[in-house]
Amino acid sequence: MKKILVTGGLGYIGSHTVVELQAADYDVVVIDNLNNSKQSVKNRIEEISGQSFELCIGDVNDSEMLKSLFIKHAFEGVIHFAAHKAVGESVENPILYYQNNISGLISVLSTMEKFKVSNLVFSSSCTVYGAAADLPVTENTVIQQAESPYGTTKILGEDIINDFAKHKAFKSILLRYFNPVGAHPSAKIGELPLGIPNNLIPFVTQTAAGIRNELTVFGDDYSTEDGTCVRDYIHVVDLAKAHVKALSYCDEMHLKVDVFNVGTGKGNSVLEVINTFEKVNGLKLNYRIGPRRGGDIEQIYADTTKVNDLLGWSAQYGIADMMKHAWAWQQELE
Ligand code: UD1
Repeated sequence: MKKILVTGGLGYIGSHTVVELQAADYDVVVIDNLNNSKQSVKNRIEEISGQSFELCIGDVNDSEMLKSLFIKHAFEGVIHFAAHKAVGESVENPILYYQNNISGLISVLSTMEKFKVSNLVFSSSCTVYGAAADLPVTENTVIQQAESPYGTTKILGEDIINDFAKHKAFKSILLRYFNPVGAHPSAKIGELPLGIPNNLIPFVTQTAAGIRNELTVFGDDYSTEDGTCVRDYIHVVDLAKAHVKALSYCDEMHLKVDVFNVGTGKGNSVLEVINTFEKVNGLKLNYRIGPRRGGDIEQIYADTTKVNDLLGWSAQYGIADMMKHAWAWQQELE
């Protein structure tokens, strides 16, 4: 059984990935500082998979703690999720983001080097493309200056990994996530909301649940079919499965570092998302059209040819499943 360290493994994408790793017979060890997760998620994951795993409650920035984990376990690879991810918060507090996301990555890389562990899967984001001129975006689309410190940490993270890999016995896959949404079909794990959500889907489900009075659609005067912004929403379980594929691809690839878009390849507008949510769940959502949100790009969606061909991965769930599972999870939370 291959042993894998998952940093941030109790978080939203991390927890779904642990489930998929266990289903693929990996022996998983998780380190998580519970900053944006709960210890009870461990039991939920184990209920789904029927298998247990070791949890270390700690911070990847604590290099001594990380070292002790690498002494105890012979890891074959690391999936590094542990990072802050709120765009607005990163604008308010950039140092927090650089410290946590960049130092955390450096701590993981230097520990991997010390213990000669060579395979890393890194969480990047489609935010690196900014407002791309040509759609869909491929992995060769130019990277733009980030709009937020959060975005900068993703671009810098990719650069650091590329520099590090050049002269080391080290391989890494960078996964550029589009918009991860939904929850596990069992409704046992999903995104744990902190305060008022900024992202669309948690705001939709909280409005449907009566926690929020009204959803504001940020602008309907964009040059899209219905005037609202278009994104490539990807089911979190599909995204989790891409990490398992990436890990095995790390072993066989010839490059030191490779990068993949992870999306469905299909764009959906905000109004399409709302209409689908209403239809599949038989609900009416209280929403109104408001002004544009600063910093939003008009539309982005992925060209998924590379991930389909080289990783042998493609999204199985569509937007209707994403909305059904997001609502089932919201009801579980109440
Ligand atoms: C943002 C980040 C992305 C990050 C992702 C996390 C940027 C540019 N994008 O994506 O890097 O990975 O969050 O999931 O930093 N909307 C509404 N009303 C709302 C909330 C959102 O209309 O109350 C609209 C937005 O205008 C947007 C779409 O819904 O068109 C999706 O928004 P959101 O879920 O916040 O994700 P992004 O901004 O695409």
